[in-house]
Amino acid sequence: MTSSLILGIETSCDETAAAVVEEGRVVRSSVVSSQIDLHARYGGVVPELAGRAHLERIVPVILESLSAAGLDVFRLRESNALRAIGATVGPGLVGSLLVGISAAKSCALAWGVPFVGVNHLEGHLYAALLENPDLELPVVVLLVSGGHTLSVALKRPGHYTILGETVDDAAGEAFDKVARFLDLGYPGGPAIERIASGADREAIVFPRPLLGTGLDFSFSGLKTAVIHYVRAHPEAVTADVAASFQAAVVDVLVGKAIAAAREIGARGLCLAGGVAANGPLREAATVACEKEGIALYVPSLAMCTDNAAMIAAAAWFLLERDGPSPLSLDAKPNLRLAEAT
Ligand code: KG4
Ligand code: ZN
Repeated sequence: MTSSLILGIETSCDETAAAVVEEGRVVRSSVVSSQIDLHARYGGVVPELAGRAHLERIVPVILESLSAAGLDVFRLRESNALRAIGATVGPGLVGSLLVGISAAKSCALAWGVPFVGVNHLEGHLYAALLENPDLELPVVVLLVSGGHTLSVALKRPGHYTILGETVDDAAGEAFDKVARFLDLGYPGGPAIERIASGADREAIVFPRPLLGTGLDFSFSGLKTAVIHYVRAHPEAVTADVAASFQAAVVDVLVGKAIAAAREIGARGLCLAGGVAANGPLREAATVACEKEGIALYVPSLAMCTDNAAMIAAAAWFLLERDGPSPLSLDAKPNLRLAEAT
């Protein structure tokens, strides 16, 4: 009998992760080794340190994910327990990606199973599906991370179109840059959310870039507006600046996600990516979806941030759609999300 288990591997940025997922929907194990502490003192991810840390951690992380899923690593070749191994091939840091890709290809060769190269962004699309297997499609996935801001129509697993995209900075990048300017530390999103809690979100009216104009996003002007405001008003209360900035980002994200949902007649909205951990964003999306009469799927915090379960899920649907990838497939640091209709 063919197995329905996929081993997923994710090393595109600062999380070393491996997971075993059944039929693209049921998580059998998910192990994430975060490097946040390693990079915090530099105020951002240092690519060389990330690559080296992945190299040290990848084997123990893979072994732990296999044993937590009840698989015997010494019998994987004979037992046919794995259907395939999926690994993120991009976008991401090249030195980090290479560690996961090389590990995945080596395991695929050793155990005689297919290798599937996964687009990291495609992985994020399946995070909500993993936690809500009965989710009704089509949905709009609002994918908001440190590197990306996209709204995507997911029509059925493996098939999606891009509705809107940032024309400059990603939402998480804006959080990180504003936090750095306000001296709040790294990563910026949680730092801004923390200080903004209880502060006045209406203290300063920052622009809501492109709100009401199409489905694309823009955050660079908003970041500049915060910087200009603070320079012109050195007496401004930092917590109020942070709360007002966060309110502007949330208004834009939710307004555009709802507009996207209307455009495709979506049954629901899924949040995905690191910024989806933001409390005010979750609250505003809850209110807006209720008003709109559509479902809201909010992944757990662990599923919002980078993990390998979403990569294994994507690999399952990719394998079904396109078959295995060649072992010559290389890292693609600037890979974009291509439409798959
Ligand atoms: O998806 P992710 O873990 O990594 C990638 O970029 O792929 O996202 C990290 C981003 C960072 O920019 C971080 O500041 C942001 O997500 N983030 C948040 C929150 N937690 C993480 N932004 C706003 N509020 C949060 N609570
Ligand atoms: Zn990510």
